[in-house]
Amino acid sequence: MTTANSTQDPSRLTAVVTGASSGIGRATARRLVEEGWHVLAVARREDRLEELAAETGCEVLAVDITADDSVDRLVARARELFGSGLNAVVHVAGGALGVETAAEADLEKWQRMYDINVLGTVRVTRALLPALRESGRGDLLFVTSVAGHEAYPGGSGYNAAKAGEHMLAGALRLELNGERIRVIEIAPGMVRTEEFSLVRLGDQDAADAVYDGVEQPLTAEDCADVISYALNAPHHVNLDLVMVRPLAQAAAHRVARHQGV
Ligand SMILES: NC(=O)c1ccc[n+]([C@@H]2O[C@H](COP(=O)([O-])OP(=O)(O)OC[C@H]3O[C@@H](n4cnc5c(N)ncnc54)[C@H](OP(=O)(O)O)[C@@H]3O)[C@@H](O)[C@H]2O)c1
Repeated sequence: MTTANSTQDPSRLTAVVTGASSGIGRATARRLVEEGWHVLAVARREDRLEELAAETGCEVLAVDITADDSVDRLVARARELFGSGLNAVVHVAGGALGVETAAEADLEKWQRMYDINVLGTVRVTRALLPALRESGRGDLLFVTSVAGHEAYPGGSGYNAAKAGEHMLAGALRLELNGERIRVIEIAPGMVRTEEFSLVRLGDQDAADAVYDGVEQPLTAEDCADVISYALNAPHHVNLDLVMVRPLAQAAAHRVARHQGV
């Protein structure tokens, strides 16, 4: 864990990025650092965060967004690093568990998906909102999913959790209207990251099969591009909702597949 305190340069934009130990969150943290942002990158796995810190020079902290005391430590560290100058909270932590039909719903998985994608996200939002307000230039960016907008067979638990996260963003945008805080939702379609499908399916072969025959699924870096655009746009420009999919995907469950790709 990075322990040094830093003196905040007031001209440098600052961000907390959750889910930064892999995939979209890691690519986003890396991208923002390259662009000159001062980034505090968080997730549960400290070893992976340390690798990211060594590679990019970002600040890191092991945080479980489903635990109050852990999020309290995040608030304290963000305050220590950024003072009253927190500009963005980028909510990437989340994910799917299982592909059971609703008839065979595994309620323990539903609970965990809700805990991470919805309750964890609102816990971090509630905790860091005062610091965003104080900065006078704040952003709350939510990485939801097309799964929060389109149901698909075997998706109900994840559909429900991501729809919950989408609604959280929508309510916040209304509640914060008139304040200097943008609420941005990026909803990706199929993104080939090394862990998303593995975590969901629990098996590497099954995870690889998700992308069989699909010409160029999105990458984590493609998503980081969109996130970077949204965060770096002039602050009066609010990208409320961006759905971004690979060309090969027309809907959550409608994906062109070719032999030999
Ligand atoms: N890949 C896709 O096809 C896709 C499509 C649409 C939307 N999304 C969404 O995009 C986000 C990132 O997906 P990804 O593909 O980058 O997946 P990923 O590689 O599995 O990343 C998930 C991240 O969330 C973190 N995380 C999980 N539980 C956490 C907790 N309790 N506290 C703190 N951090 C936690 C993980 O880190 P630790 O395990 O170290 O805590 C990891 O860094 C997710 O919200 C996902 O639902 C993904």
